[in-house]
Amino acid sequence: MIDQYNRTIDYLRISVTDRCNFRCVYCMPEEGVAQLCHHDILTFDEIIKICKSAVKLGIHRIKITGGEPLLRKDLEHLIRMIHEIDGIHELTMTTNGYYLEERLEALKEAGITGINISIDTLDEGAFENITRHEGLEKVVSSLRKAIAIQIPSVKVNCVPMKQNEKDLCQIAALAKEYPVHVRFIEMMPIGLGELFQGIYQDKILSQLERIYGIARPCRERLGNGPARYYSFPEFQGKIGFISAMSHEFCEDCNRIRLTADGDLKLCLNYGSRWNLRDFIRSGASEKQLTEYMYQAIYHKPRRHGFLEIKGCEKEIRKMAGIGG
Ligand code: 5AD
Ligand code: SF4
Repeated sequence: MIDQYNRTIDYLRISVTDRCNFRCVYCMPEEGVAQLCHHDILTFDEIIKICKSAVKLGIHRIKITGGEPLLRKDLEHLIRMIHEIDGIHELTMTTNGYYLEERLEALKEAGITGINISIDTLDEGAFENITRHEGLEKVVSSLRKAIAIQIPSVKVNCVPMKQNEKDLCQIAALAKEYPVHVRFIEMMPIGLGELFQGIYQDKILSQLERIYGIARPCRERLGNGPARYYSFPEFQGKIGFISAMSHEFCEDCNRIRLTADGDLKLCLNYGSRWNLRDFIRSGASEKQLTEYMYQAIYHKPRRHGFLEIKGCEKEIRKMAGIGG
């Protein structure tokens, strides 16, 4: 559908849990966060209702996120149910990769079309400092297996900051060694992210060019939206940048988000006034839900205003409850 600023909205990110086994420094406090109780979390049936209404509104691509989505019981079952809805063209997920390896075949069989694995560093010490968890080896081995069993689209996501600055070239080289795209996601000042200084696109690009040669910008669009991709000589995959701060893309924003407890979030930097769980539980019909979602999405804010908006309108949740 088209929103009030003439943007086509066709992509929905669904957080299926706010829990995570990792504690990435820019996302979760070490002691964790108060967890949603079972009753507050959307059931699979509720998620399916929302997906069906979303398809009616022209949303054809869905990403499953968390927290860590693989912590949600029977995730494969949910994936299969979404896959079976007519009109879903892409069904992808993000994961920290820790529990992924043993689930890959089932996910593929259930209909997943792409998996993004978050890897901020390939240095074991830095990995443990950033995620406050062991497991780099497990994550890398999940990546290898995802490629080996030919998940249609495998990507690596990395958030550059001081803590992994020296590892970025090595992370980029994953796209040389394997047929995967590696994307650098600029740190956004949301929740704990506010305490960290990210490293911007231009600096990383020039570092990479010094080692790997001239980067050529790609024209074709890959994936769900805001990443700008470059190709490097002898690389199998591309290098992407998602630069919400240094290269704002709000004008072309095509996405909305659903939190694990049913808030429809129209922009990362705003709280939500639209709780779909409560609306469904109050007995709304499919038609009413579709209309309610239409009204919400139509009013998607014009831009994130990360640097201007403070106080009550601003999103105060941690990223783990939203799903990146
Ligand atoms: N800024 C940018 N990306 C973030 N993520 C979590 N918090 C932030 C933040 N403040 C990323 C994770 C993961 C994705 C789901 O969201 O690293 O790749
Ligand atoms: Fe978990 Fe992802 Fe947050 Fe890290 S960034 S704590 S892996 S949800």
